[in-house]
Amino acid sequence: RKSDALRLPNGDGCPNDEVKSPFLIGVAGGTASGKSTVCKKIMEQLGQAEMDHTQRQVVSISQDSFYRELTAAEKAKAQKGLFNFDHPDAFNEELMYSTLQNILQGHKVEIPSYDYRTNSLDFENMLIIYPADVVLFEGILVFYFPKIRDLFHMKLFVDTDSDTRLARRVPRDINERGRDLDAVLTQYMTFVKPAFEEFCSPTKKFADVIIPRGADNTVAIDLIVQHIRDFLNNRSRHGSTGNMALYMNLDLN
Ligand code: CTP
Repeated sequence: RKSDALRLPNGDGCPNDEVKSPFLIGVAGGTASGKSTVCKKIMEQLGQAEMDHTQRQVVSISQDSFYRELTAAEKAKAQKGLFNFDHPDAFNEELMYSTLQNILQGHKVEIPSYDYRTNSLDFENMLIIYPADVVLFEGILVFYFPKIRDLFHMKLFVDTDSDTRLARRVPRDINERGRDLDAVLTQYMTFVKPAFEEFCSPTKKFADVIIPRGADNTVAIDLIVQHIRDFLNNRSRHGSTGNMALYMNLDLN
């Protein structure tokens, strides 16, 4: 399951009585660019182990939890690679927005996980997102919707070559998502590639940091982690309103 909420063993999941608004990071990029791996590395490097576990938490959420539910006819199309999962209309924008707002207000939220084999939301396996210090929200179109884009404190774009992405996507869809080669390639050429060019790639300009080569770029990830640390340190010194003006605008290209 890819949208895992990582939580520290802090009892009821509520670090303290103070309502904290998390540092919200958007992570966009084309399919199979390495968004999930970048999130995982950021989470690892924020080294929850050495932090006071009653104070710190880092959580990663996937935009897939906000796909809208399909009708039976749409599911039949999806099975053959004939449904466009890369178009903004495939997502429930309102639910995404209200969930992120709840998270920013320090509330616990529950979101469904996503089942690629059935192309449906899995309400049996709800992910509980507890109030956290840092929340990463990753997906192909997290910067597409203006009012959602405006919620992020930091915006990252994982920029990996399209041939590398296709070479990763084909075996992933066949091995992990139960697809056959024909359907994967039909879907890629009909929807994934054109939608990347029309909807995802243009959102790169909104990023604070562009990460070339994705998760292999340890220098970029180190810099990002340092920035998050600075923000969190600053906030613990100055209270939850923290100094948001710490933004850096790094274009690593
Ligand atoms: N998708 C699909 N079938 C579905 C739902 C989504 O094939 N039922 C595909 C869409 O075509 C879209 C992709 O899933 O292109 C979005 O997931 P992706 O970004 O590839 O996966 P992540 O693990 O979030 O990203 P990364 O590989 O960058 O870590």
